[in-house]
Amino acid sequence: MKKIPLEQRGITNSRIAFGCMGLGKSLNPASEEDILIAERAIDAALSVGITFFDHADIYSRGNAEAVFGQVLRRRPELKEQIVIQSKTGICIPDERFGKRYDFSKEHILASVDASLARLNVDHLEVLLLHRPDSLMEPEEIAEAFHTLRSSGKVRDFGVSNMSVSQIQFVQSALDEPLVANQLDMSLNRVDWLDHGVLVNRKIDKVVRFPEGTLEYCRMQNIQLQAWGPLAQGRFTGRTMDPSTETERLTTELVKRMADEKESTPESIVLGWLMRHPAMIQPVIGTANPERIIACGDAVRQSEIMTREEWYALYMSSRGNDIP
Ligand SMILES: NC(=O)c1ccc[n+]([C@@H]2O[C@H](COP(=O)([O-])OP(=O)(O)OC[C@H]3O[C@@H](n4cnc5c(N)ncnc54)[C@H](OP(=O)(O)O)[C@@H]3O)[C@@H](O)[C@H]2O)c1
Repeated sequence: MKKIPLEQRGITNSRIAFGCMGLGKSLNPASEEDILIAERAIDAALSVGITFFDHADIYSRGNAEAVFGQVLRRRPELKEQIVIQSKTGICIPDERFGKRYDFSKEHILASVDASLARLNVDHLEVLLLHRPDSLMEPEEIAEAFHTLRSSGKVRDFGVSNMSVSQIQFVQSALDEPLVANQLDMSLNRVDWLDHGVLVNRKIDKVVRFPEGTLEYCRMQNIQLQAWGPLAQGRFTGRTMDPSTETERLTTELVKRMADEKESTPESIVLGWLMRHPAMIQPVIGTANPERIIACGDAVRQSEIMTREEWYALYMSSRGNDIP
C-alpha cells in the first residue's frame, strides 16, 4: 500500500507527539512551579524535534491546558513553532453526577471555547472525540464540527479509543474525513498486534483491541496515535509494583539493544512502535526533560530496527510465543 507522509495528511510532520496529561498537576493554573515544568517540557520536546502537543479539556481538570497557555502568553513566538491537538467528550465528574461522556453539540462547542481560552490560542489544529459516548448522534457531532471548522476554531477532527465501526458511524454524517484515532498501543499493550496474529487460533488470552481497526485506519489514512507509548516506564527503568518476570526480562532486552545501538531505552521502546509500517505516532507522556530528550533517537531506531529485533521485543513483552 502506498504510504502517505504525515505532512501530506494535513496534520503534522512531527513523528512523535508530546502528551500534556502530566502538566498542571497542582491544579492551580497560576502555579509558578507548574508553569516552569511545562516550559521546560516544551523546550525539551522542541529540542528533539517534537512540535505536536496533545491536550484534553480534562487533563488536570483543565490545568494542563491552563499552564501550557501561560507559557504561550509569556513566549507567544512558540505558537509559530507548534501544533496543538485537544480532546473533548469526557465530563469532569462533579458532586451531582459521576463519570459520563457528552458528544452533544452544546458540550463540544463549550469545551472547545474553554480549551482555546485556557491555551491562549485562536484555533486547534486537531480536535479528538476522547472516548465513545453511548448516546452519540453523528448528525449532532457533524453540526458541532461544521460550526467549529467554519469559524476557524478547529482545522481537523479525529477520534480516540474508537473501533472501526464507531469511526464509520461518526464519519457517516461528516463531509470531511476524520484524520486521527488515538489508541492504547505500546510494548506493554500488544493487543493491537495479537488480534492479527491470533486469527484462526483458539484464543489463549483476552485480546482487547477492536478487530480490523488498525487496517481500516491505515486504508483510510487515519493517523494512528499511540497513548501510553512508554508503557509508563516499565521497560525503561521504572520498577512497577508489582513487577513481573516478563517485565524484568524485557527491560534487560531493551537495555541491551540500547547499549548495542548507542541509544536509550526510551528510544528503543518508541522505535519499536514506530517501526511498524502503520507509521504510528507515539504520544509520550513524560514531563521529565531528560526523559523527553532520551526519546529523541526514536525515529533513527525505528529506521534501523530489524525484523528479528522487532519480533524479539514483541515476543519478550508478550511473555509467550505466537502460534
Ligand atoms: N486518548 C486517551 O484516552 C489517552 C489516555 C491516556 C493518555 N493519553 C495521552 O497519551 C499521553 C501519554 O500517556 P501516558 O502518560 O499514559 O504514557 P507514557 O508516555 O507511556 O508514560 C508516561 C508516564 O510514565 C512515567 N515514566 C516514564 N518513564 C519513566 C521512568 N523511567 N521512571 C519513572 N516514571 C516514568 C512518566 O513520569 P515522568 O513525567 O516523571 O517522566 C509519566 O507519568 C498523555 O500525556 C496523553 O496526552 C491519551
